[in-house]
Amino acid sequence: MALLEVEDVSKAFGSLKAVDGVSFKVEAGEIFGVAGPNGSGKSTLFNVITGIPFGPDRGRVKLGGVEIQGKSGNEIARLGLARTFQRETSFDGLTVFENALMGAGYGKPGRAESEVRERAAEALEFVGLTSVGFGRLAGELSVFDRKCLMLATAIAMEPRVLLLDEPASSLTKPEIETSIGLIRRTAERGITIVLIEHVLTFLMSLSQHLMVLNQGRVLAAGEPKTVIADERVVEAYLGTRRPAA
Ligand SMILES: Nc1ncnc2c1ncn2[C@@H]1O[C@H](COP(=O)(O)OP(=O)(O)O)[C@@H](O)[C@H]1O
Ligand SMILES: [Mg+2]
Repeated sequence: MALLEVEDVSKAFGSLKAVDGVSFKVEAGEIFGVAGPNGSGKSTLFNVITGIPFGPDRGRVKLGGVEIQGKSGNEIARLGLARTFQRETSFDGLTVFENALMGAGYGKPGRAESEVRERAAEALEFVGLTSVGFGRLAGELSVFDRKCLMLATAIAMEPRVLLLDEPASSLTKPEIETSIGLIRRTAERGITIVLIEHVLTFLMSLSQHLMVLNQGRVLAAGEPKTVIADERVVEAYLGTRRPAA
């Protein structure tokens, strides 16, 4: 049984079908890539899977065989599903350490305070935020550090599945390299990852499986090399501007 199963999920905004009958399965331990042009429904797909901020209009989402659609974001998080956002999102008025504490405490309720603190500190060290200072306000950090903080907060929750929405957007080349290493090491911790990325090369270097969305629907899915060679995928990305050979 796959760890995450998404079955025929849809979400419309008025007459716009942002996600339109999407199905896929993610096996435990893999990095599953989701690509697609801007506006193809990638972020909306994460929204409906996690229930944050809304669930699907129809379709089923199963985590470890348990149906989670219709549950609150809160319940879904505690069942082992965490996400990051496309735009770096943190509790800006809280410190770096307090942000990670939120993840560590929220993800596994009932944990002893000392363990919550330990989890938070370990997650921050893991993403390399030690030098920034645990006492700094999150709102004062650079974009890259805020992305790292968002990742640390999610990791501190100890999720089974982590959904990453364009972790490389607005980063420099060296920062992207660091991110790739970080995502790989996150997977090595045993966290299954679903990774949205607009840049195909980023996905190619990390994913075992790749799914491409276009206008809310699955355009192609399978082994990354095969998927990016697919004519429909090339066309969705390059459109009619593809130069003649
Ligand atoms: N909350 C919302 N309300 C209305 N339309 C939305 C909302 N979120 C996304 N959309 C629309 O749904 C489509 C898919 O958006 P999105 O999932 O953000 O795409 P992607 O992440 O692939 O760029 C777009 O046309 C977008 O404008
Ligand atoms: Mg998006």
